[in-house]
Amino acid sequence: MSNEIKVVMYGLGYMGRGIAKLLLEKKGVKIVGAIDISKDIVGRDLGEVLKIERNLGVTVSNNSEVLLSKVEADIVIHATTSHLSQAYPQIAECVEEGFNVISTCEELSYPFEKNPELASKLDRLAKENNVTVLGTGINPGFLMDTLPIVLTGVCQDVKKVKVTRMMYSGNRRIPFQKKIGTGLSPREFKQKIEGKEITGHVGLSESIMQIAAALGWKLEEVVELPPEPVIAERELKTDYITVKPGQVAGLKSIGKGVMNGKEVITLEFISHAGVEEPYDEVLIEGIPNIHERIIGGVHGDIGTIAMVVNMIPKVINARPGLLTMKDIALPSAVTEDMRIYLEWEFL
Ligand SMILES: NC(=O)c1ccc[n+]([C@@H]2O[C@H](COP(=O)([O-])OP(=O)(O)OC[C@H]3O[C@@H](n4cnc5c(N)ncnc54)[C@H](OP(=O)(O)O)[C@@H]3O)[C@@H](O)[C@H]2O)c1
Repeated sequence: MSNEIKVVMYGLGYMGRGIAKLLLEKKGVKIVGAIDISKDIVGRDLGEVLKIERNLGVTVSNNSEVLLSKVEADIVIHATTSHLSQAYPQIAECVEEGFNVISTCEELSYPFEKNPELASKLDRLAKENNVTVLGTGINPGFLMDTLPIVLTGVCQDVKKVKVTRMMYSGNRRIPFQKKIGTGLSPREFKQKIEGKEITGHVGLSESIMQIAAALGWKLEEVVELPPEPVIAERELKTDYITVKPGQVAGLKSIGKGVMNGKEVITLEFISHAGVEEPYDEVLIEGIPNIHERIIGGVHGDIGTIAMVVNMIPKVINARPGLLTMKDIALPSAVTEDMRIYLEWEFL
């Protein structure tokens, strides 16, 4: 078989480290470079950063320009930020050096309406350099967009799509628990959301626009209501934080897509430390109606790490440009040597 697939990790926070660890378990793929700006890890061996028993011979660099100009790789896995304005220069430099990119940046998952200029610049740059760029993850990336889109495949007609993610947040990573306001007072929550100190969930609009694009719907309005805090009624202990009664346990965010004066897409994202029965649900009003429910829901961190790794061969094999999940081969798990999936001609 040909050489292993070579990966550069760009961003080694919770997600980047989880992705790197999963890559180490897979056959046919190798990490050849690592970039991050965090003082705690720059200059250290990646094996040490990942707290595994051995050194990997890959030193974390804070100089992306130098590393990317000399490393030989097939793809960069990027996990530094939710916002495309910040991610753009980082992803652009990877593309200019000729690397495919998968990013967890939520706003990259469907950037054509909120960030049309950056999206078209990135698309052009990717085509010029003959590489593919994809924004993905669990949500946006799968549960509230790709999954409902795929489920409409058996519908002769679709009138409405509603997706609910009812998620227990207490076992999610600490950056996630912080961004949904866990443990804050209701007042602090309001101030931090208004001051953009915490983001809440990012990506509802992108998921709505991707569903609409897949269905050929021209929405006249996409509305994202301000996130509302969910207040704890009893003491709740998460893996990292104890939430007292009256404090914020998490949040509820609602997004709506409107066409011909009617709400045709509704996304409800509810995530807090008091959720007792988590689930992910898609309701499609159409011919036929569809009701799909994942009992227990999908753990967001496990799902994101898996999705990024599983999409590597598909992105390497995809046509050049800035693609979204609706444009690329269907996601599926990498269970064998990753190089096998590069041989699939239909990708
Ligand atoms: N689509 C999805 O479903 C999905 C799922 C999970 C996560 N995400 C998103 O993915 C991103 C990463 O998540 P995370 O939990 O891993 O966040 P995190 O723990 O904060 O990690 C981000 C890492 O990137 C580093 N970084 C920031 N700017 C950088 C730059 N210019 N160059 C190199 N490194 C840089 C950070 O360093 P410092 O700490 O020093 O800043 C940190 O080590 C977040 O925006 C998150 O919202 C999306």
